[in-house]
Amino acid sequence: MFGLDERLSLCASLVRSGVSVADIGTDHAYLPVWLALNGRIKSALACDVRIGPLDNAKSNIEKNGVGNIVKTVLSDGLDEIVSDDADDIIMAGMGGELIVKLIDRTEWLKCGDKNLILQPMTRAEVLRRYLCENGFAVKEEKACISLGKSYSVMLCSYDGIRRECSDEYSYIGELAKDGSYESKRYIYVINEKLKKKLRGCKEGTEDYTSLLQLIEKFDGYSRGVSEK
Ligand SMILES: C[S@@+](CC[C@H](N)C(=O)[O-])C[C@H]1O[C@@H](n2cnc3c(N)ncnc32)[C@H](O)[C@@H]1O
Repeated sequence: MFGLDERLSLCASLVRSGVSVADIGTDHAYLPVWLALNGRIKSALACDVRIGPLDNAKSNIEKNGVGNIVKTVLSDGLDEIVSDDADDIIMAGMGGELIVKLIDRTEWLKCGDKNLILQPMTRAEVLRRYLCENGFAVKEEKACISLGKSYSVMLCSYDGIRRECSDEYSYIGELAKDGSYESKRYIYVINEKLKKKLRGCKEGTEDYTSLLQLIEKFDGYSRGVSEK
């Protein structure tokens, strides 16, 4: 049996036991195949917008003998699936802006019993802001390090409450709370990017001052971490 890397393992750990899963942007379908092999789910749809990745998914499903549990679907986002198909929806390894677009046009996700497991590769701050401002609650957020890179995974569901999103929250979400090395390392990496951004800001402006305040705060949260 194959293992998952830290990033996909963290996503898998947030899937509820015995549910139906949709893995959007599945590529090789490692995650749904692993969940099926480990008896963790009732069924899964491995969805991708491109034929090539879906072919990879199909051969991986066949190779592991889980075709009775995992089916492939050619779908742009969730367009070809319906609410009854999935309890837990995973979107991992795609950009934050794309994830926002796919959530926003799928009305049936706005239902309290659906769990979204989201792992943005880029622009996580855009995704967090969208979730806050559009009635999705982040119930849990965890960070991991995989092949030297830091990732965050969020477990969310819709509760209809629109929340204000501070700049701090948009960049680090719930991660300042848990104090784990992985979370501190994620904050450290984000802060390095903010420090670069600060160098392009004019000193004395409002933007400069608020960015500097954020950086000082994040320095505190990530004390003791170095990128290596
Ligand atoms: C980098 S792979 C991520 C694979 C896997 N989810 C992971 O995290 O390891 C991104 C996949 O998303 C798919 N994708 C991109 N846009 C999509 C969309 N609009 N709907 C469904 N899949 C999409 C790509 O074809 C690709 O296979």
